[in-house]
Amino acid sequence: SKIIFAMHDGKLHETDLVEGKSLMQLAIDNGVPGIDGDCGGVCACGTCHVILDSRWLTKLGSHNAEEDQMLSMFPERQTSSRLACQIKVSAEMGGMIVQLPEFQM
Ligand code: FES
Repeated sequence: SKIIFAMHDGKLHETDLVEGKSLMQLAIDNGVPGIDGDCGGVCACGTCHVILDSRWLTKLGSHNAEEDQMLSMFPERQTSSRLACQIKVSAEMGGMIVQLPEFQM
């Protein structure tokens, strides 16, 4: 199955779902623009900011304090903002649409 990254300009990047990877790594491996992952996935840069559908947000569970703190540094944060490096890809994410925020392009 696939995970779909949706650019702010409407372009879609389909990626093959790989279980166990972080969502950030999946994006990097597939050359998805707009996700840089500068800190290597340790929740310290915020360049992997994504916006998820609220339906998925509930499934994924809540973020930890570290992620929450990093996200709070973004005035553009939305209620369904997450850091992609803190999300572990699992089989149930098939078909998930991941929105990239405008400021991260
Ligand atoms: Fe740096 Fe996610 S890759 S916070």
